[in-house]
Amino acid sequence: MRILSVNVDHVATVRQARRESFPDPCKMALEAEAGGADGITCHLRSDRRHIQDDDVRRLKECINGELNVEMAATDEMVDIIREIKPHQVSLVPERPEEVTTQGGLDLVSRFDDVKPYVKTIVDAGIRLSFFIECEEELIKRAFDLGASNVEFNTDAYAINPDKRSDLVSVFRERARFAAEKGLEVHIGHGLDYDNISPLMEIGEIKGASIGFAIVARALEVGMRLAVNEMAKLMGKDV
Ligand code: PXP
Repeated sequence: MRILSVNVDHVATVRQARRESFPDPCKMALEAEAGGADGITCHLRSDRRHIQDDDVRRLKECINGELNVEMAATDEMVDIIREIKPHQVSLVPERPEEVTTQGGLDLVSRFDDVKPYVKTIVDAGIRLSFFIECEEELIKRAFDLGASNVEFNTDAYAINPDKRSDLVSVFRERARFAAEKGLEVHIGHGLDYDNISPLMEIGEIKGASIGFAIVARALEVGMRLAVNEMAKLMGKDV
């Protein structure tokens, strides 16, 4: 079964636009689960532009499925997740000026600096994933660092429709390579209702993390239906 983790960051983006108490990411997370989401993802950014620390705490308490927290490898973030203990942490690169995560984590240049954070996360009993470009060397590094999962960055696939069929072949080959190493393969970034299907032909891809497209669609049809439509496109029995 494919795993759909719905990213609720942009529910918080709307709330933070007015520093209000609504819309509530927890309420929308429960709606997402009712629509067929297996889990919820949020990104606690250092600048707290959308998700706040208390959102992560509350999401861990309120949802039924698994909570995946995306974060940068910093002392501050690791202290927070050791307290909250989400089911999974996805380490991502973070640049203050970016609109959204740009590129995967470069585990070649950052191997040594990421290592101590990895140990703390794994020792806390939290499953570890890395958001990476789908390149063999990066997959090997993720494996060497002790990750259980990798999430391949699908941004280039999403923004280059003319290159999609070539990129699907690359994702297929690299997903196989990662799966043979025992890594669970997920995909994310820029995925939407029009581009998800070709990637679902790849059996080694176990799940997807999708935010913006679902939250945008939810403005039109409500979160439950928006998630339900995506879950069906992923071949889920919902
Ligand atoms: N995966 C990662 C690592 C991300 O940083 C994001 C964006 O927060 C997503 C998936 C979801 O991307 P999108 O909002 O484009 O669906």
